[in-house]
Amino acid sequence: MVRLPFISSTRAVPETVQVPRHIAIIMDGNGRWARKRLMPRVAGHAKGVDSVRDVVRTCLDHKVDYLTLFAFSSENWRRPKDEVSFLMQLFIKSLKGEIERIHRNNIRLRVVGDLSRFDKPLVDMVHESEALTANNTAMNLTICANYGGRWDIMQAVEKMLAAKPDAREGFSEDELAAHLALNFGPEPDLFIRTGGEKRISNFMLWQLAYSELYFTDKLWPEFGEAELKEAIKSYQGRERRYGRTSEQVLAADPDSSAPGHA
Ligand code: IPE
Ligand code: IPE
Ligand code: MG
Repeated sequence: MVRLPFISSTRAVPETVQVPRHIAIIMDGNGRWARKRLMPRVAGHAKGVDSVRDVVRTCLDHKVDYLTLFAFSSENWRRPKDEVSFLMQLFIKSLKGEIERIHRNNIRLRVVGDLSRFDKPLVDMVHESEALTANNTAMNLTICANYGGRWDIMQAVEKMLAAKPDAREGFSEDELAAHLALNFGPEPDLFIRTGGEKRISNFMLWQLAYSELYFTDKLWPEFGEAELKEAIKSYQGRERRYGRTSEQVLAADPDSSAPGHA
């Protein structure tokens, strides 16, 4: 039997917690932030790094266990060549500039996505950073780069078939989930998208099954501690039913109808 490190929301009802164990964010709106200031789009990406720093620090303060950030999607290769190459350079520069601080704060860094399309120096730096922080325990920070929810499900199917050829005859949800690239953490309790769009854009398709969704018009470079606290407050006012009725939720645990009452 496959034992997942965390409860699957469709296989059992996870415990409702006041502070999200896992926050996943689509950091959107960098280009518009820059254009509004008559700057080139890429200036917004550079400014967005400050928001990443703020959000990481706030999550650390709130003892959020997992923070997952969508930095580059498998569809973002469709952008102009110059913008893509600026983003790659910014990724390298930010990793170089931040890794010491990340390690000092006892944060474990992972980069998840199809790294095969990245240049070797970037891939090497990713592996070094992951190895350096592998034993850190304060928080799990995951950067999704050349990531797509469909890519993750497809690669999981391939890995599962390689590990268990008789899966062609049948397999369980847990057997597949064990091979997802994001299999090391719980499903996100809170999903945030900045920038005003109300879509998932191929992020964590499998894991968002029962996440609380929060959309804000704030552009990513404007998003920081105050905005994150606002999102957590909104999450704390939700009733997480996982398919059950409100009465059942209250009967199961009269004190925790909403995360805020936990
Ligand atoms: C998000 O900001 C960053 C990446 C996708 C890399 P955008 O670049 O998508 O900004 P907008 O949506 O065009 O404003
Ligand atoms: C999603 O933003 C991807 C990242 C933030 C990395 P996009 O700006 O690429 O999404 P769409 O194109 O508006 O759906
Ligand atoms: Mg965008």
